[in-house]
Amino acid sequence: MGSVSVSCGRVHNRAVSVTEGAQAERIAAARARYVAPGATTPRLVVAEADGARITDVDGRSFIDFAGGIGCQNTGHRHAAVVEAVKKQADRYLHQCFIVGTYEPYVEVCRRLAELSPCGKGEQRTLLVNSGAEAVENAVKIARSATGRQAVVVFDGAFHGRTLLAMTMTSKVKPYKAGFGPYAPEIYRAPAPYPYHGISSDDAIAALEHLFKADVDPSTVACVVLEPVQGEGGFVEMPPDYPARLQELCRAHGILYVDDEVQSGVGRTGTMWAIEQYEDVEPDILISGKSIGGGLPLAGVTGRAEVMDAVPPGGLGGTFGGNPLSCAAALAVLDIVDDPEFLANARQLGETLRARLEALAAKHPEIGEVRGLGPMLAFEFAERLPDRASAVVSAAFDRGLVLLSCGLYGNVIRLLPPLNIAADELDEGLAILEESLGA
Ligand SMILES: Cc1ncc(COP(=O)(O)O)c(C=O)c1O
Repeated sequence: MGSVSVSCGRVHNRAVSVTEGAQAERIAAARARYVAPGATTPRLVVAEADGARITDVDGRSFIDFAGGIGCQNTGHRHAAVVEAVKKQADRYLHQCFIVGTYEPYVEVCRRLAELSPCGKGEQRTLLVNSGAEAVENAVKIARSATGRQAVVVFDGAFHGRTLLAMTMTSKVKPYKAGFGPYAPEIYRAPAPYPYHGISSDDAIAALEHLFKADVDPSTVACVVLEPVQGEGGFVEMPPDYPARLQELCRAHGILYVDDEVQSGVGRTGTMWAIEQYEDVEPDILISGKSIGGGLPLAGVTGRAEVMDAVPPGGLGGTFGGNPLSCAAALAVLDIVDDPEFLANARQLGETLRARLEALAAKHPEIGEVRGLGPMLAFEFAERLPDRASAVVSAAFDRGLVLLSCGLYGNVIRLLPPLNIAADELDEGLAILEESLGA
């Protein structure tokens, strides 16, 4: 390593000069000049990524605990994903599924039907480009299947940034402020959050109250719930809650939509987080993020009688289920569906939890370590974003890409690849520890 002090990140195996950071600075300046500032401005300027590591344009190396917000459960550029994409690129890039059927799209739907947590009957899937688009389509399908309009969502929810998905999201700044009017017929209930005193009983009682006070349950098409709230702070639903929610839904003819855009595709140590809850079988599953292995893809999967409610032409889009994304997804689903991969992911969860609990024991400012399997986070007791953002920044200076989350921005979430090597995990956690002490 060169003798010059490195302002951020670690430089591997090469000398650095006084221009350290110059490329990042140049591109960041162009970004400030040309890119809409509403798209947040991080300090990382990427040149390459591989597995759990990102190299920036100045050669600084980072361990990646963000994965492009949970899109790299199989690691950056997994060899099987890259090979599948290259093969597909040599055949055709785009068809539009409305214009011509192509097998990779059909195959992804077949695999999702096999893997779906929505019961044993026939399943069908719609493929789209993003989680938000999948959420919008899940609501369209639920409305069409039930003939009802209302949608119930929860405190702490994040469902995306398009108009309907933004309305369903539960954080005013920066996601909603100034973007109204919002979509109609969206109702919100508290979700369980035991650390802040909201139990399953409280959440069920509040939903029953909502049905008395605000919305007639016979007009509700669906509830939409993340089994582990992602942006909301990695709040995992208590073991009894999804089944109790479903019981209430069934009593009123309401569909249960399971948003697994962030918690799915192995992130919690099972293909879908909802598999870890007893006696619940969602009517619709929403997948996204990691399913494309880095390419844009999301899906809405459901029982045939629900999915068949929408007549031909009612769903779709120009790029949804793009052939490259489908080729990547087929490789990703093969990788994650391997019992050994999932067993390793669960082992990662145990290791991470033990390490985070050890950190919490040393740092009383950490109020709670929580999550499901390897989808883990810790929340600072103080409900201010400052401490979490200082840790994210200190970690970046030391070569670790981290993300905060939570309604108050006071949660640090860990989203490393599920197949991260032990030495890289150690390196990342050592930096995290150092950053907490910084
Ligand atoms: C649970 C959940 N649903 C939906 C979305 C929206 O996905 P996208 O950003 O791909 O539109 C996200 C994104 O973070 C998410 O975490």
